[in-house]
Amino acid sequence: MKIITEKTAQAASARAFDIVNGLSKQEQLKVLGLATGSTPLGLYKLIRESDLDFSQCTSVNLDEYVGLKSTDPQSYHYFMQKHLFSAKPFKESFFPDGVNPDAAAVTREYDRVLAQHPIDLQVLGIGQNGHIGFNEPGTSFDSHTHHVALTESTIKANARFFDNPDQVPRYAYTMGIASIMAAKRIILLAFGKEKAAAVRQTVKGPVTPTVPASILQRHSDVTLVLDKAAASRL
Ligand code: F6R
Repeated sequence: MKIITEKTAQAASARAFDIVNGLSKQEQLKVLGLATGSTPLGLYKLIRESDLDFSQCTSVNLDEYVGLKSTDPQSYHYFMQKHLFSAKPFKESFFPDGVNPDAAAVTREYDRVLAQHPIDLQVLGIGQNGHIGFNEPGTSFDSHTHHVALTESTIKANARFFDNPDQVPRYAYTMGIASIMAAKRIILLAFGKEKAAAVRQTVKGPVTPTVPASILQRHSDVTLVLDKAAASRL
């Protein structure tokens, strides 16, 4: 694992942008895997403000809430539209279909999409419990796209984006751990002291499904991009 630590989240986002920019300019970015949440916002802002052209690039998103339409302001589709796609159109963008209640059909279809679009670079955040995507502790390392019940800690963390905690969806579709590990390169961004314990377990702990991100120790091209607070327990 390569670890880059910068003093601030802003400086760390600039380092993450350098990686995206470099690959894009070398035409090595045909498929970009994206995450939502607050962590990649600085990176997405830098991409929006850049001269990068993604019109020949496909994006695949890590996850989507179950039950929210793409036009719902709380959906991850809407989030990506707002923070990235509106300014930087991609050739095409894929999400698990959050409104299809047939979980088997959704996961099968998304696995097909991922098989057809091998990821050149996957951007990840990390949950305080070590989740990546919505692969909560205990998820099998062999998992592909699946339907998940979010843990109470994740629901609580996500509640900050909703007016009322009761509105936070309880279920999501997510790429699995095997789907993430299939990406050619991965950058995991983590900012703030709330992430320090998860970052420590990811880097220094045993590789265990109890800390889903710990599997990244076994990937051949992973870069952790941290601010000082998230790196404080390394
Ligand atoms: C989001 C995702 C999640 C987040 C994680 C951290 O698409 O898959 O794993 O990356 O929950 O969220 P933030 O960045 O809001 O702390």
